[in-house]
Amino acid sequence: MQSVVQQTVQSGEWRSRLTGVGGALPKNVITNEELAERLETSDEWIRTRTGIAQRHIAGEGESAVSLATEAARQALEHANVSSADVDAIIVATSTPDQVFPSVAVRVQAALGIEQGFGFDVSAACSGFIYALSTADAMIRSRQVSRVLVIGVEVFSRLLDWEDRSTCVLFGDGAGAVLLEGGETQHEGILSTHLHADGRLGDLLYVDGAVGCASGKVALKMHGREVFRHAVVRLAAAVDEALEANGLKGSDVQWLVPHQANLRIIDGMAKRLALPPERVVVTVDRHANTSAASIPLALCEAVHDQRIKKGDLVLMEALGGGLTWGSALIRL
Ligand code: ACO
Repeated sequence: MQSVVQQTVQSGEWRSRLTGVGGALPKNVITNEELAERLETSDEWIRTRTGIAQRHIAGEGESAVSLATEAARQALEHANVSSADVDAIIVATSTPDQVFPSVAVRVQAALGIEQGFGFDVSAACSGFIYALSTADAMIRSRQVSRVLVIGVEVFSRLLDWEDRSTCVLFGDGAGAVLLEGGETQHEGILSTHLHADGRLGDLLYVDGAVGCASGKVALKMHGREVFRHAVVRLAAAVDEALEANGLKGSDVQWLVPHQANLRIIDGMAKRLALPPERVVVTVDRHANTSAASIPLALCEAVHDQRIKKGDLVLMEALGGGLTWGSALIRL
């Protein structure tokens, strides 16, 4: 299948600059040990296979909309931009609270935004890269100037909590970035690269939806097969991003990968010859928060000042679909 690649822009052109980041996690934390009390699993199995030690799980009063709103509010504060100046909200999620209205327009209302538009994007764990790419295209075509791009998931509400092969892997959360169009020499999104292969849809899926009479809805995954595809396809998406910008792995200052499995993340870091301290890892504390994992990781590393203005950041993700992609951005 052919990839859809946005053209790399030349310096001094109109680009999408990332000016604010925010994140939100549910209050409730569940450790591996707690899961092992009710499932046939162990902290040792989960840690050695995935790197996960704990996950945040949404409780009463917490929802996709409440988490996304909190993350978006933080991103606006960080950018020092008023909600009155936001043109669009794009939310990546596979777990909206309602079929419609979208999470995006619920967030719009919660933030008191009366202008612009909003919609949700569904691409499972690659959703944030898809939403970022969509927002970038809209900004560069001057359709909009300021876009909130949010990744949010409450996977805890679609997991089968008796299926140890999937429920130990995921967590809930939200991350948001504000993108602003502007004339820039070096900063901004350099390129995004999206892929999908629907023939691999049965490797990772949720077996139903509203309007489908299948009864209980739950996530199903052929973990080993997904793992195998992740290693190969993410490597290709990363090479593609570097090549499109005439860069080498050693030019990348930070890898902010989708947080599904520490072994996949370590493999990608090795491939880029990046030392561990240049790779942002949250999977140990957040588990796999799907579309939220990249913006949550980015948020953490920007706010603790590891990632600084001017740094070159590579993001990559693979998820249900299969969908996958990468993005290169200079902060
Ligand atoms: N505790 C203890 N044992 C377990 C557990 C558990 N929680 N889960 C499975 N097992 C058992 C299995 O039953 C199996 O036992 P058997 O050999 O007796 O049949 C054994 O452990 C090995 O199972 P595998 O699934 O083969 O384990 P593997 O080493 O492949 O690790 C894992 C599983 C962690 C899921 C891995 O395959 C993986 O990370 N895959 C990629 C997932 C991913 O990247 N997803 C990204 C996208 S997610 C999205 O888009 C929504």
